[in-house]
Amino acid sequence: MPLSTPSQKALVPFVSVENMMRFVLHFGVETILKELTEAITADFARWQEFDKTPRIACHSRDGVIELMPVSDGRTYGFKYVNGHPKNMAEGLQTVTALGLLAEVSTGYPVLLTEMTLLTALRTAATSAMAARALAPKGARTMALIGNGAQAEFQALAMKAVLGIERVRLYDIDPQATAKVVRNLSGSGIETLACASSHAAVEGADIITTCTADKQYATILTDNMVAAGIHINAIGGDCPGKTELHRDIVARSDVFVEYAPQTRIEGEIQQMEPDFAVTELWQVLTGQTPGRTGERQITLFDSVGFAIEDFTALSYVRGKLEGSDFYQEIDLIADPDEPRDLFGMLQRAR
Ligand SMILES: NC(=O)c1ccc[n+]([C@@H]2O[C@H](COP(=O)([O-])OP(=O)(O)OC[C@H]3O[C@@H](n4cnc5c(N)ncnc54)[C@H](O)[C@@H]3O)[C@@H](O)[C@H]2O)c1
Repeated sequence: MPLSTPSQKALVPFVSVENMMRFVLHFGVETILKELTEAITADFARWQEFDKTPRIACHSRDGVIELMPVSDGRTYGFKYVNGHPKNMAEGLQTVTALGLLAEVSTGYPVLLTEMTLLTALRTAATSAMAARALAPKGARTMALIGNGAQAEFQALAMKAVLGIERVRLYDIDPQATAKVVRNLSGSGIETLACASSHAAVEGADIITTCTADKQYATILTDNMVAAGIHINAIGGDCPGKTELHRDIVARSDVFVEYAPQTRIEGEIQQMEPDFAVTELWQVLTGQTPGRTGERQITLFDSVGFAIEDFTALSYVRGKLEGSDFYQEIDLIADPDEPRDLFGMLQRAR
């Protein structure tokens, strides 16, 4: 064997963007959204098994870079993700990500993947999971405000999991809305491009806000929110970056992923530190009721939590075996004798 050939111990399965695209199209977007919704629900149901922490952020004027670690004692996972709303104007994605799973027993990585596409899928599946527990029964119409990279995934998850039939769209950029109308044609979802956010929320059972702007934005004001509605607020996910007027938060029953992180990053950063919230896992395990009345306003203050990424990575890993949706890359240094790292270096001579 030539000295530069990596051993089996050096190799880690890697899913490139191209392979993730092939993976998603092979299994089908809606099938994956449904299966991910079930997988995330199952992992939220074993909430206490996870070693959890609010994500670690590096803030700058234009954006944020975050590391999202979590472990269930057997497997460790983390995602690297950024959020730069100004990127879009420069032809770059607002959100890009990559993720890794490792064995807790050895610390050795077992999977490395692109996670930009996977983040859009897991965020949409998490929204569907929350809406299934909180939205009014028989919800068929959703308003979708912010028609960027996440938008179609949000719409398709709500269709696949809840049976949403109509999506009323609004974005400050009509081209973004036109893109969603185009991408969802033939999906079975009826789309309607609206001239304002006020028009978009008319008759909606669910309002999803999915905008990107690095400020305390007011995408929804209190008068736009009718009794009985479920709000799925995706885009307020960073200190100083929110979407809802404070009054909406004040009169909603607020559900969050992991309260210590959401208090820093979510819509509830506008509220007092002891503002009452319910963690979703408590609803999913039947410990706390979700929707309790027809006039109740439920708000899922989504920021994105590490367990959702852990689940998504584990889900992909589970489907890779025997497939050609990955390649093995030489990621781990593997000297012939563990302490002879310097000796291994000489192999490359
Ligand atoms: N909660 C989570 O788990 C999670 C996960 C991924 C992304 N996000 C957040 O979701 C948001 C959307 O992400 P994306 O990747 O789709 O971003 P994107 O930049 O691709 O799209 C954002 C869209 O919002 C529109 N917009 C901005 N201000 C608006 C306003 N006032 N009214 C209507 N539309 C407006 C923009 O024109 C753009 O089309 C971002 O803020 C991102 O950080 C949250």
